Amino acid sequence: MTANVIDWPTAELHVHLEGTMEVELLVELARRNGVVLPTYDPDVLRESYAFADLQEFLDRLYANLGVLRTEQDFHDLASAYLRRAHRASVRRAEMFFDPQTHLGNGIPFEAVIGGLASALDEARRDLGMSIALIPCLLRERGADAAMDMLDVILPFREHFVGLGMVSTEVGHPPHLFAEVYARAASAGLHLVAHAGEEGPPEYVREAVDVLHVERVDHGNRSMEDPDLVRRLAELRMPLTVCPLSNVALGTAPRELSRHPLPAMMAAGLVVTVNSDDPAYFGGYIDDNYRAIASALPLDAEALATLARNSFTASFAEPREKDTWI
Ligand code: HPA
Ligand code: ZN
Repeated sequence: MTANVIDWPTAELHVHLEGTMEVELLVELARRNGVVLPTYDPDVLRESYAFADLQEFLDRLYANLGVLRTEQDFHDLASAYLRRAHRASVRRAEMFFDPQTHLGNGIPFEAVIGGLASALDEARRDLGMSIALIPCLLRERGADAAMDMLDVILPFREHFVGLGMVSTEVGHPPHLFAEVYARAASAGLHLVAHAGEEGPPEYVREAVDVLHVERVDHGNRSMEDPDLVRRLAELRMPLTVCPLSNVALGTAPRELSRHPLPAMMAAGLVVTVNSDDPAYFGGYIDDNYRAIASALPLDAEALATLARNSFTASFAEPREKDTWI
């Protein structure tokens, strides 16, 4: 059963472009741009990826992103992910990226979006993939900074399909960003938000009721609140779950065999499987599917449901979805 799981077409709905930078590319970009790293040994770098929690990971992630300097760098990063995702039978990829991080590093948004757009166009043309971009605000920087980001990115509106919310969750509840999300909605953007990864179930409620998101990214902690679970199930609100990420960050039990994914499905939640930050958490979407198929009590039908959910929950056009489902 597990052998052909990776042959099943899927959509990946929760992957951070920045988190797809493999250590080999990190070293290559550091050398290319003359950026100093603590070590240039990919194996040493890889072995140092052990995280106590979300913040420890984020600190490391942002430190590494100083190597991204030019349009070509952004192109190469996106291109490497798309080629790898294509090998994992990903038909549709909706990729998060963090404009504020790169603007803060002094990179013009034109360079970021220019590099991404050319990589996406090549993958559409050469690999036949369907791809969309979702810029994400960094919640710890607050709502005013998020509004400033919208000022910068909305002139490039045709390059993306939605708005997301990432980074440090606890202490930064979704309702603080109500106006930012309302502005994004009036620009015709789809709305998603990371909620209930480390934050409480209340943050998931706020994402749904105040921000009006169409998907919840992670959402694991919803399971602590049976009323919320019932509502999410009734709404058929998709949750983009990232099993290997949860294990790596301790946002689920550290043993994958105790991951709540089967319980989430049994509770009627619309769950999808995703890689989050594959270069840091031990694998791409096919690795996630393989891992859950062997560690969790999921039969072929459950795995097929997860893959089907990923297409129905995507922001692709209905006609395009029909070709996958
Ligand atoms: N959570 C919040 N922010 C992030 C993550 C995540 O899993 N990955 C990259 N930014
Ligand atoms: Zn994420």
